[in-house]
Amino acid sequence: MAKSRSRYVCQACGAVSTRWLGRCDTCNEWNTIVEENVESGPPIGGKARAGSGGGRPVSFVPLQGQSEPARRQVSGIDEFDRVTGGGLVDGSVLLIGGDPGIGKSTLLLQVAARLSRQSAVAYVSGEEAIDQVRMRAQRLGVTDAAVELAAATSIRDIAASLDRDDGPRIAVIDSIQTMYVDALESAPGTVAQVRACAQELIRVAKRRGTAVLIVGHVTKEGTIAGPRVLEHMVDTVLYFEGDRGHQFRILRAVKNRFGPTDEIGVFEMTDRGLLEVVNPSALFLANRQGDVSGAAVFAGIEGSRPMLVEIQALVAPSALATPRRAVVGWDSGRLAMVLAVLEARGGLSLAGNDVYLNVAGGMRITEPAADLAVAAALVSSQMGTAMAMETVVFGEIGLSGEVRAVSQADARLKEAAKLGFDTALVPKHRQAGADRRQRQGEIGLIEITDLQALMEYFASAGGDRQRAIGG
Ligand code: TYD
Ligand code: MG
Repeated sequence: MAKSRSRYVCQACGAVSTRWLGRCDTCNEWNTIVEENVESGPPIGGKARAGSGGGRPVSFVPLQGQSEPARRQVSGIDEFDRVTGGGLVDGSVLLIGGDPGIGKSTLLLQVAARLSRQSAVAYVSGEEAIDQVRMRAQRLGVTDAAVELAAATSIRDIAASLDRDDGPRIAVIDSIQTMYVDALESAPGTVAQVRACAQELIRVAKRRGTAVLIVGHVTKEGTIAGPRVLEHMVDTVLYFEGDRGHQFRILRAVKNRFGPTDEIGVFEMTDRGLLEVVNPSALFLANRQGDVSGAAVFAGIEGSRPMLVEIQALVAPSALATPRRAVVGWDSGRLAMVLAVLEARGGLSLAGNDVYLNVAGGMRITEPAADLAVAAALVSSQMGTAMAMETVVFGEIGLSGEVRAVSQADARLKEAAKLGFDTALVPKHRQAGADRRQRQGEIGLIEITDLQALMEYFASAGGDRQRAIGG
């Protein structure tokens, strides 16, 4: 067994002390001292290192060479497999972060149940008793899956159970904040414990080729507890997000050594667990209301998939000295930029107005291509002019008010056409088509070159509408 002692290291300046302090003596920062474990023997269950002074030379190999492609365990839940980059790679360690209660345990139990059809899967719960997990399994209809279940919190015990010849191929650890290494004095959930536990799990995963899925709750500050200490240690970081008021849940890859990082998986939380959402656009647009001002449909791309979402804006006179700017589902800095450009280049007056922006359905958008749709929703709200129901919008806005081309325009248009849209407000096409109105497939294109053109579009759309009402 490893002998170990603790030392206390300031995470800001690196100073080492022999006891815990609230404030670092060296750099005077508060709450930066963290207990660390210094092992003076071999790691738990490991072999002794050969010689401590003189290391053995490392053998180098050329870049070119034959390596076997990584073996992957495919769950068959497409929304999950796509985000992991095509299945769980043997020996990889994944961190699944998310707010408490968002559905991490539910997702992983469903994934574990599916994977257990082809491989040995262990599910270790440190949060719930066996009975609770069984009740959830009943609710999810997976009671006959061959998942091996345990309630444990000691990483030494868990590592010993995984580190066997007949150990599981896949292990779920729910959650890292409940686990502890007995060599450390600090309580479970502290930075030192979280890091030490993860290190031990990673060691076993690499040695045995076990794919380990670690659940981590996100703290209020928005970081996975143990200030992101885990993110750089693991191979893959997935966030499970969504609004608890909505039934949609989105699994997003933020780091992946074995796949792309812009993929998302969309799920719907039902009373019988999470369902895959095969056509998210249709779902996100399901509750749209016709003919209201302040709404625009954005044709976005998430990873390899086009996705249509409704962007809603409300511009209303403010009673405050500093008007409110509130955003849900988009970057507030980006909104500030679009507002400034709209005022300076489009001549839209927003001073003295509160501005609210919402991406419907609990979706979060990060693409700059949403700029034009946001601007359209804002102008529509300010002018009180509704956009036509069957129109989608995309384009990036520059600081001089110009609308820039974005990637994968064809994929966006195709998805819009599939869902019955007939018009698109788009950036100027690369081909020098001088005509402002064109057709691409079944969709009529209206090229918006700058914000002035967007204002004109709404002015004339308002005119059309009034004429229609008058006639
Ligand atoms: P859970 O997976 O326990 O969340 P986490 O592990 O991220 O903390 O999910 C908890 C929520 O999900 C809880 O509010 C109940 C809800 N839920 C359903 O709506 N349907 C279901 O079938 C299950 C199992 C949970
Ligand atoms: Mg849970």
